[in-house]
Amino acid sequence: MGENTFLRGPADWWRQAVVYQIYPRSFADLNGDGIGDFAGIIDRVPYLASLGIDAVWLSPFYPSELADGGYDVADYRNVDPRIGTLEEFDRMTEALHAHGIRIFVDIVPNHSSDQHEWFQAALKAGRGSAERDRYIFREGKGENGELPPSKLASHFGPEGWTRVEDGQWYMHLFAKEQPDFNWGNQEVRDDFLKTLKFWSDRGVDGYRVDVAHALIKDLADGHLPERDSYDLEVMKTDGTDDLFDRDEVHEVYKTWRQVFDQYDPPRVAVAEAWVHAHRRPAYASAEGLGQSFNFDLLVQPWNPKQFKKTITYNLAAAERSGSSTTWVLSNHDNIRHATKYGVAEGFDLYKWQHSKSKGNSLPQIDIQKGIDRARAAVMLELALPGSTYLYQGEELGLHEVFGIPADQMQDPQWFRSLGEKATRDGCRVPLPWTAEGSSFGFGPGGAHLPQPEWFAEYAVEVEEADEDSTLNLYRKALRLRKKLLDVEKYEWVRSWNRNVLHFKRPNGWHSITNFGDKPVKMPKGEVILTSTPLVDGMLPGNATAWFLAK
Ligand code: NOJ
Ligand code: CA
Repeated sequence: MGENTFLRGPADWWRQAVVYQIYPRSFADLNGDGIGDFAGIIDRVPYLASLGIDAVWLSPFYPSELADGGYDVADYRNVDPRIGTLEEFDRMTEALHAHGIRIFVDIVPNHSSDQHEWFQAALKAGRGSAERDRYIFREGKGENGELPPSKLASHFGPEGWTRVEDGQWYMHLFAKEQPDFNWGNQEVRDDFLKTLKFWSDRGVDGYRVDVAHALIKDLADGHLPERDSYDLEVMKTDGTDDLFDRDEVHEVYKTWRQVFDQYDPPRVAVAEAWVHAHRRPAYASAEGLGQSFNFDLLVQPWNPKQFKKTITYNLAAAERSGSSTTWVLSNHDNIRHATKYGVAEGFDLYKWQHSKSKGNSLPQIDIQKGIDRARAAVMLELALPGSTYLYQGEELGLHEVFGIPADQMQDPQWFRSLGEKATRDGCRVPLPWTAEGSSFGFGPGGAHLPQPEWFAEYAVEVEEADEDSTLNLYRKALRLRKKLLDVEKYEWVRSWNRNVLHFKRPNGWHSITNFGDKPVKMPKGEVILTSTPLVDGMLPGNATAWFLAK
């Protein structure tokens, strides 16, 4: 089994780690059924090692009917047979560990799949049963209980309650196939501790905790939360909101920490908690999950002022909390950042994706500019203190795939919002490994989401052969970063140009980014890496350089 005794090392290995997110269904397919699998990941461990990452995080690979890309888990301690087996999981963990790569798995505690045996048992057992108490079942309103118990929208569509055959309703903040657990129920709490032990015993090093802020809801004395918008502005800021980020949720994570600390080194975790910024440190406390995602760069357009504000705020907050911050430019829920950075000035693609009534109309993208900026951005984030979460494909400079035909889309966000919210499928398209061949080398039998022709240019094989490719830039940057890492401190260096962000680490490692389009003068120093070659000693527009002060 994957007990990783050889990976004992400092307990704080995670603080400045680079974690690479694998979306298992779209990474590599070895058996040719069009769906990525563990065998495919095992096959590409040398590739992962060649990147120079410290860990991988796997999005859910558990048995699931895929109502939400696997975030609808039918069995928390097993593997979707389309992806592999537990035995293959162990082999994959061993192979990763043998290359010095740690592994995070995704834990989805707010809701299960409606196929989970507990939910099926709840349906059968009927109202008032212990089985129903593990979820949130309530009577409806109206004369015959035909109206939902409260006015609650779900993230993916109009209704946050669904009625079952005997007339009761159950709550689901996401798709109707994702019933919310009742975290007031001790069995639910105990079962998640069991799950954490199960994977930790198998050698899992860390956990990414899905919607970590939603577990505890105010359901006391017949109260039921109502909500018609999930905008952050609607959420109370002081831990008393009836749906999200309630103070009591940290009691749950204290019990998780007790499990993590039974291992050597202690298991680690990172919270996905879309909460008010000042509330994040609580999730990142040493008595809790230890780290909490900061998505502030991910939601920023290419703008020096906003980048600077975000960086300054988050590093100060991390210092206060004792944790380290996390930098994220892309993940499986958002438009790839190369694309986001290629839109016209003033057009906010993040807002576009999450706002209403755009249907599937496409924004204009400057492909090259997007890639230049993406390369500059990753160098900037890698030079900062804190850990970095990369999303599969960004190391290829991959763009978002737009225009997936409606009959091939998989993401419920699109169906349930009746096209008002953009699909997330465009960043989940299987990776291109070769320029030719079936599904660009993803697997011998096609891909579960359609890949566009232009994927060929971004294939791993093509980029490996090109010294200046984005892939090789990531490899060089990650190698250099390992050597240059220093205490978690940084200092802004003043620049006369408003388009320039320049900072240094105590050991003399400098990073300078030109957000503008015109070249700028380079400060004195020994240049060690640039995202775009210098021109006559000048730093081109949309570029970052690392240098050592003389
Ligand atoms: C956040 C995940 O990243 C997303 O993909 C999922 O749809 C929701 N949580 C619900 O689990
Ligand atoms: Ca497969």
